[in-house]
Amino acid sequence: MLADKRVLLIIGGGIAAYKCLDLIRRLRERGAAVTPVMTRAASQFVTPLSVAALAGEAVHSDLFDLTAEAEMGHIQLSRVADLVVVAPATADLMAKMAGGHADDLASTLLMATDTPVMIAPAMNVRMWEHPASQRNLAVLGGDGVAVVGPNDGDMACGEYGPGRMAEPLEIVAAVERALTRGPLTGRRVLVTSGPTHEPIDPVRYIANRSSGAQGTAIAEALRDLGAEVVFVTGPAAVARPQGVQVVEVETACAMREAVMAALPVDAGVFAAAVADWRVATASASKIKKDSGRLPVLEFAENPDILREVAQLDAGRPALVVGFAAETDDVVAHATAKRDRKGCDWIVANDVSPETGIMGGTENAVVLITADGAEAWPRAAKGAVARRLAERIAQALGRAEA
Ligand code: CTP
Repeated sequence: MLADKRVLLIIGGGIAAYKCLDLIRRLRERGAAVTPVMTRAASQFVTPLSVAALAGEAVHSDLFDLTAEAEMGHIQLSRVADLVVVAPATADLMAKMAGGHADDLASTLLMATDTPVMIAPAMNVRMWEHPASQRNLAVLGGDGVAVVGPNDGDMACGEYGPGRMAEPLEIVAAVERALTRGPLTGRRVLVTSGPTHEPIDPVRYIANRSSGAQGTAIAEALRDLGAEVVFVTGPAAVARPQGVQVVEVETACAMREAVMAALPVDAGVFAAAVADWRVATASASKIKKDSGRLPVLEFAENPDILREVAQLDAGRPALVVGFAAETDDVVAHATAKRDRKGCDWIVANDVSPETGIMGGTENAVVLITADGAEAWPRAAKGAVARRLAERIAQALGRAEA
């Protein structure tokens, strides 16, 4: 899968560095060449000799290595690869990347490179959850850095939670996705997902039962076909997809802003269960029970994001796909919704409680296009997502031809 590809592997100084020895083997098994770079701290965890032996290439670690500068220089070194992988990406390395520091070979290469960068974070759970790390993660996501992991689990420090580096085979799979061409390579696709939360006051909100599972599966399926995916999600219960640009929002109005900022895209898939109304009279302070009267909520209509994008004069995506969550007369309601909103397709599903679809693992949808209604058999949400992603790839391919 990775023949003729070269990975510049930057090994950071964390206990997970030992997994890089296996990562190098797995990458090379698939035909990739690996140019290893180690930070000074990394060589406290694994020896440069082991890394060099497995990579079959010398380890680079010194910014001021005169021989290397004379032969190649750190600028060239940063550009020899098809992909730069930082594993483990420690809290410190992530902070340096987000801040644009360049005070050692690893950080200088990361500043100088013009090739895509992928990081596999690994750190103590509290360090991962620290606002500074989360802020840096968001900055790196915005810079187009791909992220694989971290996973939940027991940590070397004795704690439990997110912070374990992704396993070597997971990193290899992400590298393969990043380096191989699919039918959607070069396409930018937007996916909205999850519920929205509409505040009543600072502690209360109105929400719905969407888990975000179907939207997440769609983002993953589009990513697997090679698309660059912008994933705008409300506060969903399921884990965020990896290898896509994640934009977290809370309200419908914030989702609209994020969607507009993500344009232009080749296709938009609007799987979010957006609240139709927000509380117009939301209170800035907590509404107290003993205020002497029952609170009265007044509602205002939220922007219809799908409709707005589908009806754009300039910058309308070539393909706009909406969803219709219905509890009765699914095809008739969804067909009318397609006309009303002006989108190209509607993926309709029956969300009556007895179907178990909302919040469940399976979905049974009817695809409504200009050609009519097509019922797909009930299947896992992942399978529905893959079928939809393939249809999107076909449609965009046809639109181009
Ligand atoms: N949608 C949206 N913005 C909204 C409401 C809905 O983008 N404010 C999108 C959803 O993501 C979905 C589609 O519109 O793709 C249909 O959502 P649905 O709730 O089924 O339709 P509504 O327009 O709300 O119609 P109704 O609730 O009357 O069925």
